[in-house]
Amino acid sequence: MTDRKTKRRSTEWFGKADKDGFAYRSWMKNQGIPDDHFDGRPVIGICNTWSELTPCNAHFRDIAERVKHGVLEAGGFPVEFPVTSTGETLMRPTTMLFRNLVSMDVEESIRGYPIDGVVLLVGCDKTTPALLMGAASCDLPTIALSGGPMLNGVYRGERIGSGTHVWKFDAMVKAGEMTLEEFMGAEACNARSPGHCMTMGTASTMASMVESLGIGLHTNAAIPAADSRRKVLAQMVGRRIVDLVNKDVRMSQIMTREAFNNAVRTNGAIGGSTNAVIHLLAVAGRLGIDLSLDDWHTLGKDVPCLVNLMPSGEFLMEDFYYAGGLPVVLREMGENGLLHKDALTVNGRTIWDNVHDAECFDRSVIHAFGDPFKDQGGIVVLRGNLAPQGAVLKPSAASPELMQHRGRAVVFETIEDYNARIDDPDLDIDESCVMVLKNCGPKGYPGMAEVGNMALPAKLLQKGVTDMVRISDARMSGTAYGTVVLHTAPEAAAGGPLALVQDGDQIELDVAGGRLHLDVPDDELERRQAGWTPPPPHFPRGYVNMYVNHVLQADEGCDLDFLVGSSGAPVARDIH
Ligand code: FES
Repeated sequence: MTDRKTKRRSTEWFGKADKDGFAYRSWMKNQGIPDDHFDGRPVIGICNTWSELTPCNAHFRDIAERVKHGVLEAGGFPVEFPVTSTGETLMRPTTMLFRNLVSMDVEESIRGYPIDGVVLLVGCDKTTPALLMGAASCDLPTIALSGGPMLNGVYRGERIGSGTHVWKFDAMVKAGEMTLEEFMGAEACNARSPGHCMTMGTASTMASMVESLGIGLHTNAAIPAADSRRKVLAQMVGRRIVDLVNKDVRMSQIMTREAFNNAVRTNGAIGGSTNAVIHLLAVAGRLGIDLSLDDWHTLGKDVPCLVNLMPSGEFLMEDFYYAGGLPVVLREMGENGLLHKDALTVNGRTIWDNVHDAECFDRSVIHAFGDPFKDQGGIVVLRGNLAPQGAVLKPSAASPELMQHRGRAVVFETIEDYNARIDDPDLDIDESCVMVLKNCGPKGYPGMAEVGNMALPAKLLQKGVTDMVRISDARMSGTAYGTVVLHTAPEAAAGGPLALVQDGDQIELDVAGGRLHLDVPDDELERRQAGWTPPPPHFPRGYVNMYVNHVLQADEGCDLDFLVGSSGAPVARDIH
């Protein structure tokens, strides 16, 4: 064997000239790995969320191969390993239930194996936060690499966006404006290439968070999965991670408080998903960074939405890339005092070095700061007696005329109750009402499903109603839209005031004032609270039981209480 000049974490396994070292190297050699790979060179773990049940990540075997090329070129030793993959469209009851479980899988895989640096292959919604959370708790040199969005959906000559047009077409079918056959005909047009949802939904938002946090390479967010430049990016990631290991640049040196501030503001500028609020709070919690729900309001309130992408606008991620992509947005932010320019990124340069000369090639897709697509891009945090710990609303996806609204509550106790009654012609509801959905929060669903953007009653859709105020403790898909109050905390199942709302109560929403108020006298609310009993537990055993007993509320990121924080990646005790 050759000299091992550098003491690395992996050396604790592969650098031993004894029976343990024999075992560690010998079994690896059954894969045809040459002896010189164990000479102390950086071992790079490629953490892969590939799965045929996660269609958005189904091209990740190819991406992983490209990363390996880069690692080998730079003198590293690539080792690919799988973690649980959460496929947004298929997995029941909701992938959010398993985000924290995947993060545990990632954390313990990194910690348990001889890995010096990590590449995280992320794409479909929860795969990005789950891998960032798990890796953050280990704090090795790390680069996240997104798989890229699908090509634009096109149906009968028009752009159609993942998720967004499912809601739109479904409403059109219910309103009698589209036949069921036409709806089904759009199915294949909606997803016509590898990649994740190509609207500015949660996956594209989180890919943009990766780039704006500096933990992904420059241009990570928007290159389509099918574009050959995505493969080049993967190869560059492979080369870069070896350098980060050699220089011992840890994740915590990149994902600083300033980097999170940049990401929160970027979310406003791109009109990003409300899910990013929960995910970034959870990732920050792993790194010991004191990011709070109120920071989303404080940092985001002056950020205009620059990006004209569905669900708030008309274009898609492929258009965004051709227009210049996220670097243009970051440049606009930097020129207008909204970017910590010195934040370090994984290519070794500052974020400003990366974007200061970015060019925009289509101002209809990426607007200039002085001529924004929408004046208000950030997430609005609402508080009041209905949400003492906060709730959120995405103004760029809401109807301006409903931002100040008072209406009669129509209450659905559970999602099953909603499904059973929403299209009942006798349901006592009109467009001025406020739809309230309970027991869909982290504990209540459990897992906090994306059901907050409740479809409107068919009879109102047929009248031409397109939006109503909706309030819940649930999340909504990043591809969805409407005047939807989400993440109400504490949730109903934890005894939050949402549990006390009854049919006929008056509710006031004041987005400008950040207020969500249940107009019921305090003594009446106390009477209702005294009579409230928690819903019976659904799951007596297993992971879900543990999840329900330990999950934090939405304003704290929905991590499990015992996972918050990090313990690094010390070498575990040798048990041989
Ligand atoms: Fe995977 Fe939308 S379903 S990103």
